[in-house]
Amino acid sequence: MNVSRRRLLRAAAEGLVLVPLAGCSPGDGHGSPGRGGANVETGSSAGALVRSTARLPAPFTVPLPIPPVLRPARTDGDADVYEITQRVGEAELLPGLRTQVWGYDGIFPGPTIVSRRGRTTIVRHRNELPAPVVVHLHGGRTPAEHDGYPTDLVAPGTAREYVYPLDQPAATLWYHDHRMEFTGPQVYRGLAGFHLVRDDEEDALPLPKGDRDVPLMIADRSFAEDGSLLYPDVHSDYISGVLGDCVLVNGAPWPVMEVAAARYRFRLLNASNARRYRLALDPPPPSGPAFVQVGSDLGLLGAPVGHQELQIAQAERFDVVVDFSRYPLGQRVTLVNRLGENGTANVMRFVVARRAADDSRVPSRLAGFEPLSPSAAVVERTFTFERGGAERHGMPVWTVNGRPFTPDHIAAEPALGTVERWTLRAKNVPHPVHIHLAPFQVLAGGRFTSGWKDTVDLASGDQAEVLLRFDGYRGTYVFHCHNLEHEDMMMMANFRVR
Ligand code: C2O
Ligand code: CU
Ligand code: CU
Repeated sequence: MNVSRRRLLRAAAEGLVLVPLAGCSPGDGHGSPGRGGANVETGSSAGALVRSTARLPAPFTVPLPIPPVLRPARTDGDADVYEITQRVGEAELLPGLRTQVWGYDGIFPGPTIVSRRGRTTIVRHRNELPAPVVVHLHGGRTPAEHDGYPTDLVAPGTAREYVYPLDQPAATLWYHDHRMEFTGPQVYRGLAGFHLVRDDEEDALPLPKGDRDVPLMIADRSFAEDGSLLYPDVHSDYISGVLGDCVLVNGAPWPVMEVAAARYRFRLLNASNARRYRLALDPPPPSGPAFVQVGSDLGLLGAPVGHQELQIAQAERFDVVVDFSRYPLGQRVTLVNRLGENGTANVMRFVVARRAADDSRVPSRLAGFEPLSPSAAVVERTFTFERGGAERHGMPVWTVNGRPFTPDHIAAEPALGTVERWTLRAKNVPHPVHIHLAPFQVLAGGRFTSGWKDTVDLASGDQAEVLLRFDGYRGTYVFHCHNLEHEDMMMMANFRVR
């Protein structure tokens, strides 16, 4: 059966109503104003734009929210136990309008979990949503049975415990829904939150701390007139990805944050379904790089790297320090998106509001970082991410090495404790490729690839050479494109660590 058909039937069977897109039905042709095929916006993000019919607020009027940090429900020896209920919540994402979200504890973003390296974190998820869910800790070094395999469902009305040993360096991880064929709509509705890992090595560094260590979850959404989220029904116009026209940071549209004339650490996460951003500061600081990168997807770099602009693809994290003392008091500094147009050209604004003492700095050595040597690789493999050859009922699928995802096909069987070299190739459109469990270093290709990564962004036609370290656990894991519509449309494969 055709994918969209299967998905629609399943949705109907579950009583899940996919939000209809105003003025657009599955029978519509291509090219209506406001939508269109792939690459509607400057060729950078695969996808088609959904236009809001709600009145969007003037940018930089809503204060930046910070997601609450979750407290453990209890502590058992060397494990901290958290409880989260996934439920429908009402949020005021746009001023004056109510938006129904699917949220961890009913909020978007979900609460932030803060773990300490080596202490086990147990999260008990209760599903009170009207659909099955799967929870994946993105970037986690997690045993396979707790990794959130796409068919490992938590049915409505049930609960399950995810156990995270978190024997890994301090890093900015995030958790999100991973349900097979429905990750796109379920994340879009709000199922995403931060999960930070801290360790002693990082604590000892003089980086900005406390309220100057700020997680920023960037995600685009579109809204109907009544404030509800618009996620189109799946048909060929959106097979390349769903792009919103309103940029949210921590759930607020184009927010504003008052800062001191001091250094801040920002944990940037792109939680968008299909949109990439090329971030810059406007105006740029009078001297030095706009962003000093101190961390990548999986933790601190060996040494800081300065960037005037940073391109962030879906699921990537960049940990950066911005020094606002370089600006005069009262200066407004806009975080802009050089890949955006109109509303999506802005992300948020900082206002340098006051002087303050600042004893933070960015040391020239951050963490122990050993580059893997290509000669350590015992196996080489190539994976090509491309559109499937055949279009069925106008519905192409996305494939890895020509195959749409099926849970029973294993594409690679790396041995525990080895290093492999994988060539990842992107065809047709850009693909941000994410590999579960195994951290990797990028030897060549990709963009902004310093440090340990779990996601590498590939331009269309690009390829990256990566060295992966399979030293976590045995078992079956997935790797996939993190354009969530590509992922839902089968651009995913299994590897089994043996
Ligand atoms: Cu962030 Cu397999 O996902
Ligand atoms: Cu992941
Ligand atoms: Cu893709």
